[in-house]
Amino acid sequence: MIPYGKHHIDEEDIQAVVDVLRSGILTQGPVVEAFEQAVAHYTGARYAVAVASGTAALHLAAVAAGVGPGRSLVTSPITFVASANAALYVGGRVIFADIDPETINLSPDSLRKALADNPDARAVIPVHFAGLPCDMMAIKFAADQAGAIVIEDAAHALGATYPSGERVGSCVYSLMTIFSFHPVKAIAAGEGGMITTNDKAIYRKLLRLRSHGINKLDDPVQQPEQAECDGVPNPWYYEMQELGFHFRITDLQCGLALSQFKKLDRFIARRRILTKQYDDAFVGMRNCRPAQKTGRDMSGHHLYVLRIDFEKLGKSRGQLMRELKERQIGSQVHYIPVPAQPHYRRLGFRPEDYPNAQRYYQEALSIPLFYDLTDGQQETIISVVRELVG
Ligand SMILES: Cc1ncc(COP(=O)(O)O)c(C=O)c1O
Repeated sequence: MIPYGKHHIDEEDIQAVVDVLRSGILTQGPVVEAFEQAVAHYTGARYAVAVASGTAALHLAAVAAGVGPGRSLVTSPITFVASANAALYVGGRVIFADIDPETINLSPDSLRKALADNPDARAVIPVHFAGLPCDMMAIKFAADQAGAIVIEDAAHALGATYPSGERVGSCVYSLMTIFSFHPVKAIAAGEGGMITTNDKAIYRKLLRLRSHGINKLDDPVQQPEQAECDGVPNPWYYEMQELGFHFRITDLQCGLALSQFKKLDRFIARRRILTKQYDDAFVGMRNCRPAQKTGRDMSGHHLYVLRIDFEKLGKSRGQLMRELKERQIGSQVHYIPVPAQPHYRRLGFRPEDYPNAQRYYQEALSIPLFYDLTDGQQETIISVVRELVG
């Protein structure tokens, strides 16, 4: 069975984890910091904070941005639920703005309208869908005008670049950017996430929030009389200065991630070639087309999504997925619009309020895209899709 996505592990990765096991430090050690520094250096951000997952990264970013009761955040309906849930974790409200049907990313026009209609918006979370960078200039401009903070959800977009040349994660258009290192993503940590930022105060806050809200680095203590005796610091003393979480990642996970990270450019280059081969193969088909056609040189190529006219095709998506499965080809749908989820419907959302997202959802199908996909496997996938989709 060819899955729709899969990680690549080699002997170097295995050795990297073994090295951490032998080092005697399993967590809160030097490998976490080394991974943070590597991602900061690569993306061009000043600071990076590694956490337990992309979801934890979004949660901490929402806290750090000041989303909370009486404040909302705007995101795309076509994303994994975690992007929206970040608002709910902190007692805030979610607002969805529709997608641009050509990019499947948050539409700047819809965003402007959403911000105008919701003056309580504190943050905007654009999602670089399938690795394609959003129109960040327009999004940042709209957010700035509304006094909202931008948090980029780059769970799909490690290794992607903006048209201006900077890497996603550099935070040139945002206060914070988050990444995920779940195994289907560009690099795997098992589970893991990261937040990058150029803002020192935000960096320090994220470090505290990651670990129970306890003071970090040279954070000034709030109870100096407890912190020292005769001008000498008490060695046991720490302060919980705000309510934080336990969202730490281990050195084991970062050992794997750091080893994977060295291969990132190779991973992306292969994904780009595979994407181009799919694009060339599917051009001019009657019932189907690539969901994203632009920005192929900038994308992180996390997913390859087809838009299929199932009505014209005369079969349902479920039927096509079953037929692909019979031929050993995995497929998936990214994503069911978040407002269509039962929890969000109960909050009063209606997916039909986001017509571009709704139309996209009815047509979307992700087919296999990962580093180890061979040309031979891809040729099989292409010929089966051609046969089944017409
Ligand atoms: C767009 C997006 N944001 C956030 C996440 C959450 O990342 P994680 O699974 O590491 O918590 C995902 C994961 O699939 C995602 O696709």
